[in-house]
Amino acid sequence: MSAGLAISDTKAALAERKNDLYETPPEAVQALLKAENLPPVIWEPACGPGSIVRVLRVSGRQVYATDLVDYESPDQDEHGWDFLSERQLPIGVQAIVTNPPFKNASEFVVHALDLCPRVVMLLRLAFLESTRRAPILDGGHLARVHVFRNRLPMMHRDGWEGPKVSNPTAFAWFVWDRGHCGATELRRISWEPIFAGIQGQAAE
Ligand SMILES: C[S@@+](CC[C@H](N)C(=O)[O-])C[C@H]1O[C@@H](n2cnc3c(N)ncnc32)[C@H](O)[C@@H]1O
Repeated sequence: MSAGLAISDTKAALAERKNDLYETPPEAVQALLKAENLPPVIWEPACGPGSIVRVLRVSGRQVYATDLVDYESPDQDEHGWDFLSERQLPIGVQAIVTNPPFKNASEFVVHALDLCPRVVMLLRLAFLESTRRAPILDGGHLARVHVFRNRLPMMHRDGWEGPKVSNPTAFAWFVWDRGHCGATELRRISWEPIFAGIQGQAAE
């Protein structure tokens, strides 16, 4: 099968699942900026319409914003980029930061670590609980896990028209660093509402 066919198959499957687009709340990115010293040039390789991108750019960072899907957003630089097929970093990139598609989150982490010395991903806390993922979790390069004390607002799938429910899932920022070798540090962070009226739901 040609690479072109493979990508269009992936796109078709994604389209059926509404692109697996669950946008990261900007509050989560602000909390990350407080917790981590992120470098000036970053790649968001599954950027969606640009929820993470906007906050990082406002912080003064240069961000390459790419995605497989065209979200027709002014905050997206490129579409048609299948991250898992990319073979090199855009020039100058020092870290990859994203909230990857849930379905192939592990593949995203493995591939990102092949390409880049620093990788930061928003993942379910349960990502930690796995034997299959032992190479990326126990390999010594998972430097920090920033767990949210307060539950993030629900990330509804793009186009969701049902009731807005509270988030049943705990998330954390996972930080891999090729320069780190040893135990993983667990830290607790909080997100704060950006707009009046948005309230965090306290975790049990
Ligand atoms: C959970 S959403 C997160 C979007 C964005 N990162 C954010 O945090 O708001 C996952 C994104 O991954 C994109 N995606 C899925 N498979 C991809 C692939 N192979 N390469 C690049 N992007 C992909 C989807 O189009 C979607 O925008």
